[in-house]
Amino acid sequence: MKNKKNPLLDIKNLNILYSTKNGEAKAVRDASICISKGEIVGIAGESGSGKSTLAYAAARLLDKSAKVTSGEITFESTNILKLSEIQMQSIRGAKIGMIFQNPASSFNPLYKIGNQIIEVLTCHVKITKKQAYEKAANMLKTAGLEDAKYIMKQYPHQLSGGMLQRAMIAMALMCEPKLLIADEPTTALDASVQAQILKLLKDINANTNMSVMLITHNLLAAAKICDRIAIMYGGRIVETGTKDEIFNSPSHPYTKGLIDCMPDINSQERYLKTMQGEPADIISVFKGCEFAQRCPECMKICAKHTPPVIEISQNHFASCWMHYKAEVKISEQC
Ligand SMILES: Nc1ncnc2c1ncn2[C@@H]1O[C@H](COP(=O)(O)OP(=O)(O)OP(=O)(O)O)[C@@H](O)[C@H]1O
Ligand SMILES: [Mg+2]
Repeated sequence: MKNKKNPLLDIKNLNILYSTKNGEAKAVRDASICISKGEIVGIAGESGSGKSTLAYAAARLLDKSAKVTSGEITFESTNILKLSEIQMQSIRGAKIGMIFQNPASSFNPLYKIGNQIIEVLTCHVKITKKQAYEKAANMLKTAGLEDAKYIMKQYPHQLSGGMLQRAMIAMALMCEPKLLIADEPTTALDASVQAQILKLLKDINANTNMSVMLITHNLLAAAKICDRIAIMYGGRIVETGTKDEIFNSPSHPYTKGLIDCMPDINSQERYLKTMQGEPADIISVFKGCEFAQRCPECMKICAKHTPPVIEISQNHFASCWMHYKAEVKISEQC
């Protein structure tokens, strides 16, 4: 999307490879996405589509086997790919907070929750331990854990999944980051806790103007809180649009397929719909659109040439030959 009003994070034409024993896995291909100040952007797509790789790249937390081969990641006008690790450490945690799918593995089981949360602040800001303790207690309350002082004295295993996820959010908020990257923050939680955590993220965004990149494979979760949604398939962003555009006028056959597969509580169908075919093979060298083999609307050109990103409307982009006409606007980014 070209929503370049007050850009906070601007990812342009990013390509990321993983070296594997079977060859190079092209996990992110030519991905471009911009997140404005105060905006919540969802990145959705099936497992292996490259969502986490894109998110980790934005915080420069990629695995050692990953290599950014080209592209730019600009955060507050600085290309963070050019920063040293020491420079990056002053941004990560302080300006870019992260929460992960499985909070249990993000906390050290040997230390009390409070000490781990406080450490985030004392690493970045000159502050007394008492002040950091007070702030941690406040953040835990903001994250919906009213009995904050009790929680701080607990070890991770003593909290439920929902409580740990809230503690993780409190930890990410300690330095009041401008951008929160949330990688599947509700996947491990039951439906009612999921809804509470999503509401919490939305409330924090409304109260602090913090931008959020929400990674999810659940389109409904994205629909609940996101201003815009980007759909990833086979490492590429194939469509972006506002929540209404994605749900009411999906313009990429993969997005249409995802929406078709969403469970409908009123349906008389006994079985859930599934999308035909296998996920994209990101190791083989292929030409054309990565979705071509599964696409019900595939044309000859789709197997030969990667489709350009086409502007469907002002905030709505899709990378699909179906929309190509001589007069369409070709965009640099989805
Ligand atoms: N450390 C790694 N080494 C090699 N390949 C990797 C590594 N991490 C991820 N990949 C591959 O890169 C591709 C994208 O992975 P990624 O984790 O970004 O997908 P995802 O969309 O987040 O999936 P999920 O919904 O399952 O979390 C996948 O094919 C995955 O197997
Ligand atoms: Mg992931």
